[in-house]
Amino acid sequence: MKNNLTFTMIKPDAMENGYAGDILSLILKSGFHISALKLIHLTNHQAETFYNIHRKKPFFEELVMFMTRSPIIVAVLKKNNAVEDFRKLIGSTNPEDAEKGTVRNLFATSMGENAIHGSDSEDNAQIESSFFFTKNEMY
Ligand code: CMP
Repeated sequence: MKNNLTFTMIKPDAMENGYAGDILSLILKSGFHISALKLIHLTNHQAETFYNIHRKKPFFEELVMFMTRSPIIVAVLKKNNAVEDFRKLIGSTNPEDAEKGTVRNLFATSMGENAIHGSDSEDNAQIESSFFFTKNEMY
């Protein structure tokens, strides 16, 4: 099971701009399988807890306001080397630095509103997946 799961969120900006379908299509065409998926409108408490590691950062309040602004899609994705391959597919945090053809290059507008999240390590992929899904909800 190790090394084959990652966690993603299609963020409010991408949802509001109608990019969810195109982003999911790109993810599937890149060889990822959906293990779990749902639409959810994060509460302040959920966003603050999920991003607890950024609590002391100057952009924390802005990040929580953004992530609670509208419903998002959260999903667990399966593929060999999932974490690393997904980080490549989504591109740099800042869309201005994101390589051509990556999700953030195609669909993100700014560092704060960057369309998509991808886990940065296998440990975080597990922690983040279990934040939203029970084991029985992952296939
Ligand atoms: P992500 O890497 O998915 O998770 C942390 C998020 O914090 C990041 O995406 C950005 O959306 C946000 N973030 C990181 N750096 C900044 C910044 N300098 N200003 C605003 N938001 C940021």
